[in-house]
Amino acid sequence: MRAPLIAGNWKMNGSKRDARALLGGVAAGAASLQGAEVAVCPPFPYLALGEAELADSVVCLGAQDVSTESAGAYTGEVAAAMLAEFGCRYVICGHSERRDYHAESDTLIARKLQAVIANGMRPILCVGETLEQRERGETEAVIGAQLDGVLGVVGIETFADLELAYEPVWAIGTGKTATPAQAQQVHAFVRAKLGVSDRRIAQGVRILYGGSMKPGNAAELLAQPDIDGGLIGGASLDVDDFLAICRAAE
Ligand code: G3P
Repeated sequence: MRAPLIAGNWKMNGSKRDARALLGGVAAGAASLQGAEVAVCPPFPYLALGEAELADSVVCLGAQDVSTESAGAYTGEVAAAMLAEFGCRYVICGHSERRDYHAESDTLIARKLQAVIANGMRPILCVGETLEQRERGETEAVIGAQLDGVLGVVGIETFADLELAYEPVWAIGTGKTATPAQAQQVHAFVRAKLGVSDRRIAQGVRILYGGSMKPGNAAELLAQPDIDGGLIGGASLDVDDFLAICRAAE
């Protein structure tokens, strides 16, 4: 019912040359995939390259962030309409690195979701707890509050138009992956929480897992009933690793 989505978040990595090679490699390898949707989210300057390299491929293009504003004197910002112009289908919103390094609030993130959807794209809304929060037994409270902070602004209906990503902060780029059982528990919590507001929307929303997903652990994570794909950081920078994760999702 929920087709798996594997999305690569390249973060601030690579050069123009690397981006071209990675885009070409993923586009070629993804052609033979059946049943898994694939997306890549390069840094902003490489989106034009992404649009060109992925033109005839099944791979979707995504961006890593967006402005809440539509135009004007916002130096350094990128509007949702601009991303749509370059053929983006997805936009990552509220990644923990944005929440942490740029103090993004749930309200600001909610406004980003609205900007993305208003421009015909789909947000990938990230939530996740820190190690300290997990150790204090606050995982569900933290993620519940992140969801409530967004729901209070956009409403449950918006969740029909987005993807979610559960990314435990302690598992990002650390090589420490949540066990399939730990991840499944949080994914099930998220779905159940949304289900209180709207069961149909909760059943339909795709919840990706992100945090040191690699070829060696992807199949077991993706086999969990509430894990509907992956948001891949480090492993998305290697064509073979990324495609191996995509194949694990088929
Ligand atoms: O958005 C993806 C991410 O934060 C996970 O990164 O390097 O742990 O796969 P990584």
